[in-house]
Amino acid sequence: VMLPLKDKDKPVVQKLLSAGCCARCVLRFCCVRVQAAYRRPQQEILKDLQDFLHGPEKNQCDVSTDNKSCDPVVSEAAADPPSKRAKLETDLSDDGQAEAAAAAAAAIITETHCVCVVCLGVLQEFSDTDQAVKTEKYEFDSLVLSVSLPAQLCVREHSCWLHVKKEVREKSPLLDKEDIVPLKEAYKWLVQSTISTELGGVFSPLEVAVEFSHNPTDSDCECHLYQQTILHKNKCKCWAFMSVCRHYSCPPTQPSSSCVLQGIQCLHQSVFIAGRYNKFCRSLPQTPWLIDGERRMESSVEELIAAPVLSAFRANGFNFSSSGREDVDVRTLGNGRPFAMELLNPHRARLNVQDMKQLQESINVSSDKIRVRDLQIVSREAMGRMKEGEEEKTKTYTALIWTRKPIKKEDIAFISDIKELTLDQKTPLRVLHRRALAVRQRVVHSMNTRFLDAHHFHLELKTQAGTYVKEFVHGDFGRTKPNLCDLLKMDTDILELDVESVDVDWPPSIQE
Ligand SMILES: *[C@@H]1O[C@H](CO)[C@@H](O)[C@H](O)[C@H]1NC(C)=O
Ligand SMILES: *[C@@H]1O[C@H](CO)[C@@H](O)[C@H](O)[C@H]1NC(C)=O
Ligand SMILES: *[C@@H]1O[C@H](CO)[C@@H](O)[C@H](O)[C@H]1NC(C)=O
Ligand SMILES: [Zn+2]
Repeated sequence: VMLPLKDKDKPVVQKLLSAGCCARCVLRFCCVRVQAAYRRPQQEILKDLQDFLHGPEKNQCDVSTDNKSCDPVVSEAAADPPSKRAKLETDLSDDGQAEAAAAAAAAIITETHCVCVVCLGVLQEFSDTDQAVKTEKYEFDSLVLSVSLPAQLCVREHSCWLHVKKEVREKSPLLDKEDIVPLKEAYKWLVQSTISTELGGVFSPLEVAVEFSHNPTDSDCECHLYQQTILHKNKCKCWAFMSVCRHYSCPPTQPSSSCVLQGIQCLHQSVFIAGRYNKFCRSLPQTPWLIDGERRMESSVEELIAAPVLSAFRANGFNFSSSGREDVDVRTLGNGRPFAMELLNPHRARLNVQDMKQLQESINVSSDKIRVRDLQIVSREAMGRMKEGEEEKTKTYTALIWTRKPIKKEDIAFISDIKELTLDQKTPLRVLHRRALAVRQRVVHSMNTRFLDAHHFHLELKTQAGTYVKEFVHGDFGRTKPNLCDLLKMDTDILELDVESVDVDWPPSIQE
């Protein structure tokens, strides 16, 4: 017998089995903390317990020595027939084969088909949880399992403990209730091991919340005082309950059905990715452009990037942010604009370098409007770096300028000599509906001109982040001062604008 039990445990084991406890609950009451012992098929554990009690030879059906335990005849009628049960376990359980074989071998031990009086079946069938998590095909490094059990289970446990204590007081040292392995803990040992055998590590936990209920015994806890004073403190003070509801049976009565798995919720921690994007299209907003709930443009930068990313990480949603943003009609060239995305409930949390490159490529080929580079997984904290000191960063632009009066190359050459030009920019009219009215000082660090023809030239600018370049060119009805019209002493307008670089050194560039 490989169970770590001692002679003094014998009366306890005997008493618990007779009372209708399942094999795993017996281990709990015997304070067995060897996780592997719980993970064996319950028929095997039961057989070992019987060997432990009577020696390996005579272990037939003498478990049910008193009338408290489940009558084998009744139980077979009430529960699934053994064959069906064996099949169920083959289908669902991780070690289904072993379990089914053991079920066949131990078919005579009908005891196992009884619903445990203490755990109400929670430790008897746990493959549903396992299955539900596997259906979602999560990839994860570790599992954080939270289990919600019906409150009456702790009353049952207490009642069973009293029952055992009464019996064994003289024969063995007092069984301390604190030493009993908590039901939730035993359940986690069982489920965690079967779900998370595929992967190791502690990088990105999957949070699984499991909730059980057992309506037939809900009335056990209808005691008003119990509901109000004990349940709400979220702590099991069963002695208080037992002293109020004196008529609670001890040991607890045999239930006819198991706990029902009410729901399982799986949530994987967010994964964060970052990169830089180019935008080559003058009719693409950065985020979905909605007016009164109506879409104005068929797509957006974030949606074009998000679609392949969500499918690669099998995430449920995303949250997009970037280092500044460009207008719908502005292109972003050069090395692109840094962006980051929070991926919500990703079913896959890691992509290796090759997968990441493939993802980047699938974004690149999905549309000719955008491209992405330096795509990488980052930490939540690292995302903050993108927004850090954003105002101090510089951006470079190229603007196509139109002049009302004809110009010669010499007329605009002086512009290149202007350095560190401070602008007073009143909030532009076009953004006044979403930004507070204020005068902001921004610096144009340097400019350069490239003459095109009598009415057109290219203006290259290096500015402080947050400078409104369009307003600097046309003046915004005098709201930006000085402006290009003032400098050239003629009306000018901006026909096209490109962002040439966003000088933020995050995320780190990736060597191809
Ligand atoms: C147990 O069963 C026997 C015979 O079936 C019966 O005489 C006895 O009263 C029962 N004991 C209890 C506690 O029900
Ligand atoms: C998206 O990010 C913002 C800002 O960080 C945050 O307030 C919001 O809760 C996030 N949304 C989701 C769905 O996580
Ligand atoms: C995607 O496009 C960017 C920008 O042109 C380029 O730097 C990057 O190498 C491309 N990546 C892949 C995998 O195609
Ligand atoms: Zn049990």
